Amino acid sequence: MNNGVNGDENMDNEENIIEIRNLKKSYDHGKIKALNGLNLDVKKGEFLSIMGPSGSGKSTLLNMIGALDVADEGTIQVAGIDLTKNKKLDEFRSKEIGFVFQMHNLIPNLTVLENVEIPMYETKLSTSQMRERALELLKSVNLEDRKDQIPTKLSGGERQRVAIARALVNHPSIILADEPTGSLDSKTGDKILKLLRNLHSKENVTLVMVTHEPYVGKMADRIVNVLDGKIQN
Ligand SMILES: Nc1ncnc2c1ncn2[C@@H]1O[C@H](COP(=O)(O)OP(=O)(O)OP(=O)(O)O)[C@@H](O)[C@H]1O
Ligand SMILES: [Mg+2]
Repeated sequence: MNNGVNGDENMDNEENIIEIRNLKKSYDHGKIKALNGLNLDVKKGEFLSIMGPSGSGKSTLLNMIGALDVADEGTIQVAGIDLTKNKKLDEFRSKEIGFVFQMHNLIPNLTVLENVEIPMYETKLSTSQMRERALELLKSVNLEDRKDQIPTKLSGGERQRVAIARALVNHPSIILADEPTGSLDSKTGDKILKLLRNLHSKENVTLVMVTHEPYVGKMADRIVNVLDGKIQN
């Protein structure tokens, strides 16, 4: 697991890979308070499930953890990095975070294998090392035999598995999954969830997943509910 982009271990609690204090984010010149003083700790290696009604701030929260957006107020530390102060957010994202979002954003004219290799282009790995790691992950998601296919020829569940392989390929500390089963039928969704859970243990990664599926709670280590931009429990 990565120790942080700059190796700077300045978190209050070493066990926590995510520490969020009083985080606020508003849109529309303050009219919409998407996050309203949110506090959250996530332990290294934890599988956390985030639930809550539509519009409560779940995706905004994931975007903040993944440094895709910046907060108005409060502090957020992820993998030892203070995201409110750090300027190298691209580097942080590519080293620490694997994204599995509902819009899988696979590149349509690249093969499955090439899609999985993309995040490794920014590393110092050789072409053969990249290929080896990509194939290892495609094996884990049971798609090795589809490696030369283009994504438009795959089913929704297969595409989501490619997205999961791609998210894990750089050994991120944290996987952020935003409704990874939202566009799938329940049987396929169930398979994706079990796959994510198994990879979470195998790859020794922290998994933070937004979901509307109540039964996911049985798989996660912990569930938190977001309501009006705050953690409820
Ligand atoms: N870029 C944006 N500009 C303006 N308002 C936004 C933006 N992103 C989110 N919001 C608003 O912030 C609030 C929280 O949105 P968010 O997407 O975090 O909700 P959510 O809990 O993920 O909902 P859902 O379950 O429907 O995905 C909502 O009122 C939403 O309309
Ligand atoms: Mg959302």
